[in-house]
Amino acid sequence: MNILPQDPNGCPYLMLAPMEGVGDRCFRKAMATVGGFDEAIADFLRVPKNAHVESLALAYQSNELSPIPLAAQLMGSEPETIAAMGKEIEKRGAHHINLNCGCPSNTVTGRGAGSSLLKEPSSLYEVAKALVSSVSVPVTIKMRSGFDDISLFKENLLAAEESGARYIILHPRTKVDGYGPPARWDLIAEAKSLLHIPVVGNGDILNVQDALNMLKTTRCDALMIGRGSVINPFIFHEIRAHFAGTSYTPSWENLATYLDAYTAGLIPEVADRIKVNKLKQLMGFLFKANPPLLELRQSILTSQHPDTTTFLAFTLPLLKKGLAFSTPNHI
Ligand SMILES: Cc1cc2nc3c(=O)[nH]c(=O)nc-3n(C[C@H](O)[C@H](O)[C@H](O)COP(=O)(O)O)c2cc1C
Repeated sequence: MNILPQDPNGCPYLMLAPMEGVGDRCFRKAMATVGGFDEAIADFLRVPKNAHVESLALAYQSNELSPIPLAAQLMGSEPETIAAMGKEIEKRGAHHINLNCGCPSNTVTGRGAGSSLLKEPSSLYEVAKALVSSVSVPVTIKMRSGFDDISLFKENLLAAEESGARYIILHPRTKVDGYGPPARWDLIAEAKSLLHIPVVGNGDILNVQDALNMLKTTRCDALMIGRGSVINPFIFHEIRAHFAGTSYTPSWENLATYLDAYTAGLIPEVADRIKVNKLKQLMGFLFKANPPLLELRQSILTSQHPDTTTFLAFTLPLLKKGLAFSTPNHI
């Protein structure tokens, strides 16, 4: 069975990227009200050695975005604990489990997890293999192009394939790159020519043209989009519409529905200051969507509002006036 099927118009399988801190439950749910993507991967569940996996797994809800599937992402470096966690996650209904081999955070890499697994292809292989062997659902690997540099790039790709992963998702920057230099799409093309399993291309897709360019230059099998979807929540529909030979122009109502869903997802018990900060983070991305909004971005971020109602009363009219998701060509 093809687990990355195209739509009837030939649009590739579209995935919403995991984004810890930005792409939380509120964001995912808001994105699910807009739709347009085939699947999302939740932000990572950190699985320390000897973790109590039963309680850790409770953070994952496979039906959170129903009917859109939500895969779980695990991050850890100890094969037995990752395997045990995989079993728990499968019991909770996951249709697919992803292994994080890309997180650049020093707390994570210091414990040998995330992008640290790229320092030693045999570590990546052992953790991935343990996960693959413990579950009956597909396991996939999301990886960067290396840790310090790309010297082990091919070895890591081959280790991922050899472990039994069903496909890899490649964000072609090293850990050291962070999010700085442009993603090296040429490395996605290289992975495609080296591997027999599918490769999902990820990194710097901000508009339809970027998506088409990535597909053309890399021949990747599917696309994953992260920040481009926070800047323009309608990007998946726009890509899909392109393949259908039409175009998609979001209305103000579409954006209002998205923002309502996001606001409704903010935890009621949380302090107003924190809720306003969450909304500021989201607006900070939305206000990158076109030059007139970009000019106002700083005033939004530094504004002082006691609660979400007054903050929205200030920002929504600005957003409404500037609604035109001609996304920028850099972040
Ligand atoms: C705020 C933030 C949090 C992220 N958290 C995760 C994560 O939990 N797991 C993961 O595999 N990648 C994570 N990423 C990486 C993204 O999934 C993606 O690979 C990267 O942003 C490049 O894609 P983009 O240019 O479409 O955003 C994160 C990225 C950002 C910006």
